[in-house]
Amino acid sequence: MGIYGLKSILKVPHTVIYGTDTISELPEQVKRFGKVAAVVYGGKSFSESGNRNKIMEILKSGNVAVHEVGGISHDPDELLVKSITETIISIKPDVIIGIGGGSVIDTAKAASIIASNGGEVADYWEGKPFTKPSIPYIAVPTTSGTGAEVTKNAVITSKEKTFKKSIRSDYMIPDVALIDPSLTLSLPKTVTRDTGLDALIQNLEGYTSNNAGPITDTLARKGIELAGTYLVQAFRNPDDLEAREAMSLVSLYGGITLLNAGLGLAHGLSHPIGIRFGLPHGRSCAIVMPKVMEYNYTARKQKYDEVGQLLSGDRNGVKAFNKLLERLDLSTRLGDYGIKEEDIPLIVSESKGGSRNYNPIHHSDETVEKMLKEIL
Ligand SMILES: [Fe+2]
Repeated sequence: MGIYGLKSILKVPHTVIYGTDTISELPEQVKRFGKVAAVVYGGKSFSESGNRNKIMEILKSGNVAVHEVGGISHDPDELLVKSITETIISIKPDVIIGIGGGSVIDTAKAASIIASNGGEVADYWEGKPFTKPSIPYIAVPTTSGTGAEVTKNAVITSKEKTFKKSIRSDYMIPDVALIDPSLTLSLPKTVTRDTGLDALIQNLEGYTSNNAGPITDTLARKGIELAGTYLVQAFRNPDDLEAREAMSLVSLYGGITLLNAGLGLAHGLSHPIGIRFGLPHGRSCAIVMPKVMEYNYTARKQKYDEVGQLLSGDRNGVKAFNKLLERLDLSTRLGDYGIKEEDIPLIVSESKGGSRNYNPIHHSDETVEKMLKEIL
């Protein structure tokens, strides 16, 4: 079988709307489900950016009955999901709109399915299946990173703040992903960089995953190319709309790729690194990514060579990726983030399962410990 004969499945939201100023279409999408919307969003930055006023105005003039559910924090935990779920149940909305970064979109996604299925996050971590569809859900991203607007999982932190783990179901794929790049114009530089790297790495790990296929490869290749052209531009000039438009596509393509092809070892390691050392998700993926690519290289040589070409015209994917990190002022030494040799065994043991299963080649815990020691 040639490479184009590989099995490839494409799951996506029922409706994906992309484009600058498409936020004006939100009321029309709400009306497909009813009149009453619970609008879930984050904290201060959403109001300060002007996005909150703008979107509430659009909903009001579209005759949508809005219940605001604000104050969602970064890295939502079990308790926050429980309280938002209770709020949603009391509102009885026809549709939930999650507007924000990955944390907000995931919280609203989790609440929308638990509200209809009952129970708590921990029940589903332990294997309880979701048997009923979620409350209709519209995801509106205000960052270009996680791709949560199209994926079927929600990353939730344990109530003791010791681990992060996904709950997942096909029922959790949003009904509508409404992606308006102009909403990301207000993002600060470091958030642009960290979320942009997450988006790029999701394309990259999905492209080389052991579950990659021709449909997702097409999207991932374009996502990698766009990130190579526009990530530094968006980082240096947060008001560059063209760069923002491109990065929103990188996020979308990365989300669809990870939903259908899975990720890899860098994502597996990013959760324990992020939670133990307080690093944003995209940054914790990026600091281990060059080492992971180096380790995987021989298994996906042709694809990694192509990654180099797509990113910067380089013949070597690792070199091109490292060059990009340099331009983004990001170190890949674990020591620069307070990580010490004695922390490594814990990071590795907490990285098991999930994304690591999709890494293109097998890697024992001992091998991963050795890899991390090399980048201390
Ligand atoms: Fe990610």
